[in-house]
Amino acid sequence: MRASPFTVVASLNDLKTSKLLCVKTHGLRIALAYVDGKVFAVDDMCSHEDASLSKGSLHGECIKCPLHGSRFDLNSGAALDEPAEDPVTTYPVKIVGDEILLQVQQV
Ligand code: FES
Repeated sequence: MRASPFTVVASLNDLKTSKLLCVKTHGLRIALAYVDGKVFAVDDMCSHEDASLSKGSLHGECIKCPLHGSRFDLNSGAALDEPAEDPVTTYPVKIVGDEILLQVQQV
């Protein structure tokens, strides 16, 4: 099976400024996070209820949901606190110049 291509979704400079960004690609909303020179991409929708993780806050390499405060590991997507139990999906990221590219399976 061929791997999905990487798609440009945002500018690295924009993300460096905002630290968190919500982008839409392939019918999905994805939260981008910038932490210590690294870029992470996870589902924007919290796995617990309908809250946008990109409106939350960063705590090291974790993102905290703005609604009930569950934290998710940006590397694995794992939920670290209740009430969320399920992980969020993580996506491979590539940086080319000032462009952030994501690899997202077609839905
Ligand atoms: S909606 Fe995110 S923890 Fe409840």
